[in-house]
This record gives sequence, C-alpha cells and structure tokens, in this order.
Amino acid sequence: MREEFLDPGVGADPDEETVEAGLRPRALAEFVGQRELKEHLDVVLEAARRREQAVDHLLFAGPPGLGKTTLAGIVATEMGVHLLVTSGPALERAGDLAAILTKLEEGDVLFIDEIHRLSRAVEEILYPAMEDFQIDIVVGKGPAASSIRLTLPRFTLVGATTRTGMITGPLRDRFGLVARLDYYDADELQAIVTRAAGILDVHIDTDGAWEIARRSRGTPRIANRLLRRVRDYAEVRADGAIDAGVAHDGLALFGVDDIGLDKVDRALLAALCEQFRGGPVGLSTLAISVGEQPETVEDVYEPFLITQGFIARTPRGRVAMPAAYRHLGLTEPARHGEHRGLFD
Ligand SMILES: Nc1ncnc2c1ncn2[C@@H]1O[C@H](COP(=O)(O)OP(=O)(O)OP(=O)(O)O)[C@@H](O)[C@H]1O
Ligand SMILES: [Mg+2]
Repeated sequence: MREEFLDPGVGADPDEETVEAGLRPRALAEFVGQRELKEHLDVVLEAARRREQAVDHLLFAGPPGLGKTTLAGIVATEMGVHLLVTSGPALERAGDLAAILTKLEEGDVLFIDEIHRLSRAVEEILYPAMEDFQIDIVVGKGPAASSIRLTLPRFTLVGATTRTGMITGPLRDRFGLVARLDYYDADELQAIVTRAAGILDVHIDTDGAWEIARRSRGTPRIANRLLRRVRDYAEVRADGAIDAGVAHDGLALFGVDDIGLDKVDRALLAALCEQFRGGPVGLSTLAISVGEQPETVEDVYEPFLITQGFIARTPRGRVAMPAAYRHLGLTEPARHGEHRGLFD
C-alpha cells in the first residue's frame, strides 16, 4: 500500500483539503521562500496596480506541493479581484472554457491547474482570449452554423503545471512571466512548519520543527502533513508537545527515514540498485516493479531523487548513482565499464 500522507501529489480526502486551504498563505509577504520568484511577482503586481491594469498572464511550473495553487490565490488577494479555479482535464470542450471566460470581470484571475492537460480544441480558444481578450463562439450546427465574436474583460490567466516540457510553445509564449518553483531548503521548511503549528495550535519547539523540516523532501505540503502525523503521535504517545525526540520517533513510526525518503522512494532505489543492477532501466519497467504509475514516478518521486543525486536520467533509462547504494547500505557493484553489455 502506498504511503499517501507522504505523496505530495495526493490531495487525499476532503478533510485534508480543508486543512490545507486553512494553511495557505494569503499575502505575498506570508509566502515563505522562493525569493527570486517572489521578487519578480512583487514587481509585476505593483506595476499592474500602478497602471490600474490586470496583471500579465503567469505560468507557475514545478513539482507537486510547492505552492503553485497558493500563489494563484495570493495574486487574486493582492490585486483584490475574484479567483476562478478550473483545471486542464475539467475543460473537455471549447464550450466549457467559453462558459468560464464569460463569467470573468475586469482584472479577475482565472487559475487553470494542470494546464498541460488542456485539449487542443480548448487551447486554441485560449490563444485569442489571452492575447486579444476575444473569443469566437460557434453557434448552431452544420451549414447553418455561424460564429459570434465576444469581447472579454481584461483578465489574468494563471496556469500551473508539473510538466513544463509538455506545454506547447505557442501557449508558453503567451505568458508574460514563466516562473519555476524549486524545492525548499530546510530553513524555509522549518519556518513553514512553525507557521502551520501556530495556526493549528500545536506546541512545537525549534528542534522539533527542524526535525520535521529536514525530512520533508523539500516540499511544504509534505512538511504540513508530517506535522499533522507527528501531532497525532505526540497526543497519543507523549504529552502533546513536539520536540526533536517526539518528532524523530513519530516519523520513524510512519516509515519516514532519516533523510525523509518514504517506502516508495526506498523501493524505487532498491529496485534500481538490486533488481536492475543499477540500470539503465526504462521508466515504465521501473514503475511497474514498485506498483506505481509511470507518471507518478516521473512527476512525484523521481524529481526529488534526482536533485538529491540518487538517480540519474540517461537516454537509455534511469541509472542508480553511488549515493543510492550508500543510502541503502549496499556496495556498489564494480562496473566493468562499457563492455559489460558484451557479456550480459
Ligand atoms: N511558500 C510557502 N509558504 C507556506 N506554505 C506553503 C508554501 N508553499 C506551499 N505551502 C503550503 O503547502 C500546501 C501545498 O501548496 P499548493 O497546494 O499551493 O501546492 P501546488 O504547487 O499547487 O501543488 P499541486 O501541483 O499538487 O497542485 C499549501 O496548503 C500551503 O499551505
Ligand atoms: Mg495545486
């Protein structure tokens, strides 16, 4: 079974979403980390405010749980406009998008999550909407069909994607700012955990917050989730307060290892090192061997393992790096270099 509480891609149950919404920073100043991005955004928002215009279209890219949806909300709050939320897969037909576009008021933010999953037909309507604030709607069918042009109020499109590579060139070019979110460092996550603990009314000391932060895989959503699990542990097995010891024991109980890898992460590394003798192995073969979808491995697990130097992507597939063997306590097999393939 999969450790859903560790999977930053899992929105989990509605309860969890309510908690998550409550923890979302509303103002740019409350948003921890991503310094450069924040500065860019600050300038873009301030300039739009001075010109009394809608903010330019923005695209946020990066792994799940790093704050893309949060930023869309912040843009709307900072500009004092409405936020309309939808997603690529939810917009099946051109009409679905047209229906939303016609609801917009001057300056509003339209947030399209997973924008890389928009259908072609919908994407094509979006181009003139973004560029000229116009859409052509086809009414009627067959030879009697005609099209009406609608003028839209100036709005801001905020797109979010976990896959920059899957955004088509023409769509990407229509955004005024394309920003990448990076994994957070432990100091920043410590600030996020401390802030969340304050909102959730959890007693935690700085060492306890640090212990959770450094094992959160660089991801605020995981940090908040681990905080809640450790809080459960603290209430049941300790006096409710979280210090380094309680955090350590609580995280161990839930299978989070010393550097924050969960069971799936470790299973991936083990499969790569042992079963596939260090690779190269194809993504889908690797994913099947741990019972996950290839997309989940590619979007959710692999990016962090790559940034940590455990896995590398090569044209022939995924390979294990020395750090992976070290972390699992395995000895790296002696490589006979290029001619290994000759004897296999
Ligand atoms: N910079 C931050 N400061 C404080 N909290 C943050 C920050 N970024 C994210 N969070 C917290 O992490 C949670 C997840 O963030 P968010 O939903 O914005 O991620 P996302 O990038 O949209 O993820 P997905 O790709 O899965 O939709 C939020 O509930 C928010 O509380
Ligand atoms: Mg999101």
